Parts: sequence; C-alpha cells; structure tokens
Amino acid sequence: MLSDLDFSIRSGETIGILGATGSGKSSLVSLISRLYDVSEGSVTVGGVDVRDYDLDTLRNSVSVVLQKNVLFAGTILENLRWGKEDATLEECREACRMACADEFIESFPDGYETKIEQGGTNVSGGQRQRLCIARALLKDPRILILDDSTSAVDTATDAKIKKALKETAPEVTKLIIAQRVSSVKDADRVMVLEEGRIDGFDTPDRLVQTNEIYRYLVQMQSGGGSDFDDELRSDHFTDYNMEDGDNE
Ligand SMILES: Nc1ncnc2c1ncn2[C@@H]1O[C@H](COP(=O)(O)OP(=O)(O)OP(=O)(O)O)[C@@H](O)[C@H]1O
Ligand SMILES: [Mg+2]
Repeated sequence: MLSDLDFSIRSGETIGILGATGSGKSSLVSLISRLYDVSEGSVTVGGVDVRDYDLDTLRNSVSVVLQKNVLFAGTILENLRWGKEDATLEECREACRMACADEFIESFPDGYETKIEQGGTNVSGGQRQRLCIARALLKDPRILILDDSTSAVDTATDAKIKKALKETAPEVTKLIIAQRVSSVKDADRVMVLEEGRIDGFDTPDRLVQTNEIYRYLVQMQSGGGSDFDDELRSDHFTDYNMEDGDNE
C-alpha cells in the first residue's frame, strides 16, 4: 500500500517511475484515473481533485496502457479506433508511427486490415504493446500512462518510441513505469518507489548522485542493458530487496 506521498507533476512533464515489483508503481498511477481512490489525502489533476471530475471526462483525458494489454478480435484498424471511433486512417497511421507500430503493420499483407485474434495471440508481445500504445495515443489524452508497456519491445525500439512521444506530443504529460533504467533516462524526472514510499524523485542526473537504488539499477543494467532478459531483470530487483530489506 502507498503512504506518505506528496509530489506534483507539471503539465507536459515526462516522469519515469522505477521500483521493485510490488513497490506500488501500478497502484500509484491507478489513483489518477480513479481505478482506486485514496483513503487519505487527495490526488489533483489541473488543480482539481480527481473525485470532483466527471468520471468519463477524467478517463477520456487520461490514457492508460496497462501491463496486461488487450486487443480484441477484429482488424488492426478496428482495434485502433477503439481509442477514437471516428479516427481517420491518416490519424491511425500517425499514432502508429509514434508508437513504432507502422513498420510491422505495413509489412503484413493486409496492412491495417489484418485480422487480430481474440487477445491478440497472432501478433508478438512487442507488437501488441505497440498497438496498445498507438490506440492510447489516438485518444489524444492530456495524460498518458504507460505501465511497463514496452517490456516486450527491444531497447532500441523502446528508445525510438520514447523519443517520438517526446517530440510529437510535447504537451502530453507522460508517466512511464519501467523496469529498464534506459526507458526513463530521458525523462524530465524519475520517481523511485520502494515499498509504497518515494525513495527519490529528481532528474536522472541528480538521482545517480543521490539515490542508491537508482545507482544500483544503473550499474546493474549498464553495458549489456539489452542483454538482460525480463526474468533476469526481476531477479536483480528481488536480490536488491532481500539485501536491503531493512524496513520490514
Ligand atoms: N487489488 C489489490 N488489492 C490489494 N492489494 C493490492 C492490490 N493490487 C496490488 N496490491 C498490493 O499493493 C502493493 C503494490 O502493488 P503494485 O501492483 O502497485 O506494484 P508494482 O510496483 O506495480 O509491481 P510490478 O512491478 O510487479 O507491477 C503490493 O504489495 C500488492 O500486493
Ligand atoms: Mg505494476
């Protein structure tokens, strides 16, 4: 459970969120779109308590790509338009370019008319993630939340997506939950969560100086960053927790 959180994020900022599994990353971002409500204190967006927004309005301005992304049975285009019913093909293409999904879609014989099977089982995990990001972008959100949404995408493509987001949607506030330090190294600020509390929240440059967990992750993942497979990565997180688990 989360506790003692007090921070604010400026509109248009890109915020990276790092932390061990179970540290509260998903819980934290869930408070924004009100999947959960706070039991004490408040969460405000644009100076207004999230509980005072019309829920549809709030959820329309917050696009969330969850860890477990889903695609439904239908064409790629239909899946994309779930984000915005009346999106033109050109708008869909633009969103796919930003999410680095255009290349693989165009390599399919049926392109945007390719049929996706229930759950998206006929595309790879990384392709599925990119389609879900494109769909989230089509909603033209004020706040975009990516919860571990590029874990199945290679490091280079991940960097390309983050760069495109920064350049093409500078006004959108982005919250990027990641396992890889490389995913958040260009964020304006990075929040390090541990056991539901903020362990550090600063620019990546300053965190390297001041935050042990961040420094540990940088060391762990530097050099062969892209060689870490997911399992190995979570092992390191777990190791870290065991070694430093002094706060009960
Ligand atoms: N629906 C829920 N009901 C009760 N407790 C929950 C629920 N979801 C998560 N938790 C607890 O809240 C804490 C934070 O979970 P959360 O999912 O936010 O972690 P996380 O940082 O996103 O982890 P991961 O990297 O594995 O996704 C965990 O201790 C978890 O057991
Ligand atoms: Mg999570």
